[in-house]
Amino acid sequence: MSSSPDWLALRKDFPILDQKVHGRPLVYLDNAATSQKPRAVIEALVRYYERDNANVHRGLHELSNRATNHFEAARARAAKFINAPSADEIIFTRGTTEGINLVAQTWGMKHLKPGDVILLTEMEHHSNMVPWQMIAERTGARVAYLPVTGDDGLLDLSQLDSLLTPQVKMLALVHISNSMGTVNPVEALCARARKKGITTLVDGAQSAGHLPVDVQAIGCDFFVFSGHKICGPTGIGILWGRQEILNSLPPYQGGGEMILTVGYDRAEFKQSPQRFEAGTPDISGPIGLHAAMDYLDAIGRDKIWKHDQELAGYAYEKLSAFKGIRLFGPKQDRAGLVSFLLQDVHAHDVVTLADRAGVALRGGHHCTQPLMHKLGVESTARASFYFYNTRAEVDVFIEVIGEIRKFFGQ
Ligand code: ALA
Repeated sequence: MSSSPDWLALRKDFPILDQKVHGRPLVYLDNAATSQKPRAVIEALVRYYERDNANVHRGLHELSNRATNHFEAARARAAKFINAPSADEIIFTRGTTEGINLVAQTWGMKHLKPGDVILLTEMEHHSNMVPWQMIAERTGARVAYLPVTGDDGLLDLSQLDSLLTPQVKMLALVHISNSMGTVNPVEALCARARKKGITTLVDGAQSAGHLPVDVQAIGCDFFVFSGHKICGPTGIGILWGRQEILNSLPPYQGGGEMILTVGYDRAEFKQSPQRFEAGTPDISGPIGLHAAMDYLDAIGRDKIWKHDQELAGYAYEKLSAFKGIRLFGPKQDRAGLVSFLLQDVHAHDVVTLADRAGVALRGGHHCTQPLMHKLGVESTARASFYFYNTRAEVDVFIEVIGEIRKFFGQ
């Protein structure tokens, strides 16, 4: 592909975008919640169900072999997507949330004891907070937080040294904040944790499909992301972990395909990844995800990143001109989203009125309730961009926000 992708041509790969909502052209700006799917992904799913559908790893017949080959090819593709050293380190999950629960419950049950600390940040999504709170309660460990400085959504790194105590056993943090758009310095943080022998997990839900990810360069021990936010199907996600750690952990769930032998009293388990994939897995999910990863990398995630950042920067600049608006997240180096509040207008009203004009936003606490409370708000409105969004769509969004302000007499 040329150095500058033809974004408008790529947009045509997404049939869903070509429609009117409430009589106005759809402007889909809720990509941090879920992305849309290109025809290549939809066709991969149809092809699988029309030609190859069978259970994996079990059959000796042609269709089962084909399904197994596609399933395992997707695993190898996922390893390449994040530069994992081995496909055996790739575990298929239902999504980011399940990946973190799996680590919390297996690694946590094995390694945490009373007095230990799980260090998170104040900007974590509930999915990287609640599983740790649950395992802390079961093991007697406790959860501590690296603070966020304020509306700018940055981590207060000056607190890190005092928080990285010998009791800290796990540092789990988000790569890109879904509610602030902050891009956290995960490489530097993982390096500091590693020096102290602390295990690290990076939540890549908002990063994996938006910028090139290299888990070896990040230097974390676990990395998780979801398929549906990177143009793939819902219900499929990836957990990557270092092989030596994965193979030392107890299984997450018991059942078929994860065992070596079973007796009436006990069972022996396979190594990763089968150890963590009990029962018939989602088979079409990895196949759709494979098509999504091919699609994104044919464009180039470096280019997608630049495009998303430009749109978010443009939107941020335009929104800043509105009197009384409160903007969240860093002014510079933000990911492809903007989070804001109009003076005296509930975020849900903004989202409902924007929807009437065809603009899909998200309003709420964005599953970061503690952060919202810290910042003294219940919710924000959020516009989140992807490579198929255009500058013209940002102009529509800004115009609509201007109309909403007028509606509220501002
Ligand atoms: N975590 C998703 C979001 O930020 C659902 O919208």
